[in-house]
Amino acid sequence: MNMVDLIEKKRDGGELSTQEIEWIIRGCTSGEIPDYQLSALLMAICIRGMTERETFDLTMAMLHSGDILDLSSVAGLKADKHSTGGVGDKTSLVLCPIMASLGVKMSKMSGRGLGHTGGTLDKLESFPGFRCNLSGEEFLGQLREQSFVISGQAANLCPADKILYALRDVTGTVPSVPLIVSSIMSKKLAVGADVIVLDVKTGSGGFMKNDEDAEILARELIKVGRAAGKKVGAIVTDMDEPLGYAVGNALEVAEAIHVLQGKTEAAHLLELCLALGSLILTEGGLARDEGEARDMMLSAVQSGKALDKFAALVKAQGGDPAAVYNTDLLPKAGCVLEVPAPQSGYVRHLAASDIGRICLHLGGGRETLDSVIDPTVGIVLQKKVGDRVEAGESLAQIHAKDRASDERAAEAYLQACTITAEKPVLPPFIRRRVI
Ligand code: URA
Repeated sequence: MNMVDLIEKKRDGGELSTQEIEWIIRGCTSGEIPDYQLSALLMAICIRGMTERETFDLTMAMLHSGDILDLSSVAGLKADKHSTGGVGDKTSLVLCPIMASLGVKMSKMSGRGLGHTGGTLDKLESFPGFRCNLSGEEFLGQLREQSFVISGQAANLCPADKILYALRDVTGTVPSVPLIVSSIMSKKLAVGADVIVLDVKTGSGGFMKNDEDAEILARELIKVGRAAGKKVGAIVTDMDEPLGYAVGNALEVAEAIHVLQGKTEAAHLLELCLALGSLILTEGGLARDEGEARDMMLSAVQSGKALDKFAALVKAQGGDPAAVYNTDLLPKAGCVLEVPAPQSGYVRHLAASDIGRICLHLGGGRETLDSVIDPTVGIVLQKKVGDRVEAGESLAQIHAKDRASDERAAEAYLQACTITAEKPVLPPFIRRRVI
């Protein structure tokens, strides 16, 4: 086979065969196909698209480019959750302990934040000493004992995706449904869960900017997962404003803990966890319907079992679980500043990606992979979209390391926030259920 011929075939709208796709991924992983040819092919795929069969073959070839976790020695229902990313998204920190306390084995390989979006591992490292780099043996052992493990991606899991994703990032080829689907699903399949639930974000802070595109992505992700023999469900949810109230690592951990403690002020966060958890329990055959699933989850919260499960995870991975029962023990920022509303009215828009960027500039995110994160900084929203606010009332609290950063962030927050005289009409937070 010849890479130039395959690039030309895709450029001209042709369909790559299974063997051709496998050959390309082998050459990508071994380094035999140079980056410039892979980049040209990625651009051709971005423009021409792929058929359902090609997308499936690409996912499978990427899956088999490295190690695949074997969870067969772990008894019980194994589930995994994926979110396409966003601002203030601490869903895994709430959903996984609830599920684990109900006996579902939650095996999560998570990522770190990059750009304006946060990452679960960075949030968990707010617990001093928390270890995210578990060996394969530790991962399986903890899954068996605690029903719950969250670790960084194993070094040799889907190496082809690591190469292609890095190229896509710098060649304008990220927003392609077949490339996104194969990238996400190859990694999900490599972790080996029986049930996979997907939270596809829509809006200014998400990957897909409107509901229609988000639904197309959700449908394609589901098709590939089912073709690979998995139970898969997806929902499309709002990421026009941050999820919940807290943005920033330790602040998000505290918010997640408050939800697990049964304090439900973060209504959207709880609603999202109940929706994803219902999918896991019904798809996995542990609940008859959504009503029963929700009751099971709410009683896991009310009984304190979900909170205890979160504490067990923190302890098992080297952190001090005391902060799970007393969030005042989490690391705190030196300076907290309120952002007063410049006028009375209703909050019309809170630009999620801009707020994510404010957190990043405060030191809570990563501009490069080597950036050192400050777990204490971030923003606590006091008003969400649709809320009434009076002039001078606090819109948000900025948690920063010093007064100058606080003031810069407060100014930027006012730019990210739109206040209008009229009360906005809001679409539902869960836009679509895709089954
Ligand atoms: N997340 C991934 O892992 N891959 C993509 O292509 C997009 C989001």
